[in-house]
Amino acid sequence: MTIDKKLSDELDRRRAHALAGGGQKKADDRHAKGRLTARERLEALYSKGTFQEFGLHAKHRTRHFGMADKDIPTDGVITGCGFVDGRPVASFSQDFTVVGGSLGEIHSKKICHALDHAVKAGIPIIGFNDSGGARIQEGVGSLSGYGQVFYRNVQLSGVVPQISVIAGPCAGGAAYSPALTDFLIMTRENAQMFICGPEVIRAVTGQVTTMEEIGSAQAHASVSGNIHFIAEDDAHAIAIVHRLLSFLPSNNMMDPPHRIEADLSIVDDPALDELVPADPKTPFDVREVIKRLADDGDFMEVMELFAQNIVIGFGRIGGIVVGFVANQPIVKAGTLDIDASDKAARFVRFCNVYNIPLVTLVDVPGFLPGVNEERRGIIRHGAKMLFAYASATVPKITVIMRKAYGGAFLAMCSEDMGADRVIAWPTAEIAVMGADGAVNILYRKELAESEDKAAKAKELAAEYRAEFATPYLSAGELMVHDIIHPRETRSAIALSLRGLMSKRETRPPKKHGNIPL
Ligand code: HXC
Repeated sequence: MTIDKKLSDELDRRRAHALAGGGQKKADDRHAKGRLTARERLEALYSKGTFQEFGLHAKHRTRHFGMADKDIPTDGVITGCGFVDGRPVASFSQDFTVVGGSLGEIHSKKICHALDHAVKAGIPIIGFNDSGGARIQEGVGSLSGYGQVFYRNVQLSGVVPQISVIAGPCAGGAAYSPALTDFLIMTRENAQMFICGPEVIRAVTGQVTTMEEIGSAQAHASVSGNIHFIAEDDAHAIAIVHRLLSFLPSNNMMDPPHRIEADLSIVDDPALDELVPADPKTPFDVREVIKRLADDGDFMEVMELFAQNIVIGFGRIGGIVVGFVANQPIVKAGTLDIDASDKAARFVRFCNVYNIPLVTLVDVPGFLPGVNEERRGIIRHGAKMLFAYASATVPKITVIMRKAYGGAFLAMCSEDMGADRVIAWPTAEIAVMGADGAVNILYRKELAESEDKAAKAKELAAEYRAEFATPYLSAGELMVHDIIHPRETRSAIALSLRGLMSKRETRPPKKHGNIPL
């Protein structure tokens, strides 16, 4: 028996109509502006032929104000599931060619359905945001739709990875859905994200500003810290999604995609001995160290342009996926400030929730001194790092390269803060506070009486380092578990990681801790 031709034609007609979205002319306009269409974005995301659409025939309800004659194919959003590198991944992609990708009730219902599917199936979800915001004709129905999406973003947080691509406008309250997800990627030329645009700011406050200054990818990547990656265009954004997924598990019950080989043979790397300058005040780029530690030098830096005094990102060591957190001596001398604390703490929590071991590289002189830092709450923000590390139960390995002073060292995951393994280089300086500060307090009188204060201070600081800050002192107290040559670091971490793969750590039951926000 074959299906009635009329029924079959009807399906083909409806399908073609929905697939055409806002039509060829609008699609051509997108291309002329260097953008892919919503559907092309999904084609580029998934392995060929693996995308299954949910709700191709979903339609808006015509009862809304001014909508009776509106044709809204797919209700302006394409949702579904497909395969990336052989793993299932859910998605939604807002179609700007259809009523500006605006979000109405059915549009929201489709996104919610994709989010619900992701959590049921235990798979990541990727959202392409490209929308004029709440569909004005649908009034509070649209507002409620956003509420339902936000609610689900929060329910999914810590269960399946959520990645947002901002590929067009993402304005007003709509920006809070991506903000609730784990990673935000924004295209450089074609995307804007803001709560109040320049006109509103001017009308309300009189302040004159530009979209470049408040809503561009550059501003969010380097100043506000709202996004994690800038992409040159849609294709590049999708390449970043692919690379990110290659380090992430599908859900919180799974291990990340380690590439463990049975045989672990890692040789010494003499270049590491040369990389870090002997003079503790001479800066070096810690990314060079990370690249030597990561398998094949493959390091995916996250939030590269924001709070550059701390470096975070993903790599593998001996095949095991790790999250790196490292002080960056070439920016603000590697001190911890408010932005660096926020950046690192959130990353530590992400790694913990997705079973990604942490490798922390320490060269920290302390928290950044300053009136602004104190007044804006460095105490509250710095506390986030302490909280994040102490509550993380994944394997935690800390390498002390040079300075590890005071509370900032504890915030970089010392043994007391729960590090499973603390390794120091012979160049490590570990002490309750920096040498210069300690000398000023302990020897105020001697310094005041000395003829050449600077020379005396230098001499006393060297004495302090030699007497109170050597790694052997801390190793004697078991705050450091081993002191190794830099060249031995990669194998020491690899062996430790391998030995900690079955780590189990239980904590008293609670709803959740109360992290200082
Ligand atoms: C209904 C909308 C729409 C919206 C755009 N369109 N935004 N329809 N509701 N929110 C429609 C336009 O009418 C137009 O329809 C088509 O989409 C394309 O829009 P254009 O304006 O022609 O495109 P462009 O010039 O590229 O400008 C894009 C834009 C602009 C900057 C996004 O459309 C815009 O400013 N839209 C309104 C944005 C806004 O104020 N949203 C806030 C809503 S309230 P035709 O038929 O002409 O093709 C909100 C609150 C959410 O979002 C709260 C959540 C908690």
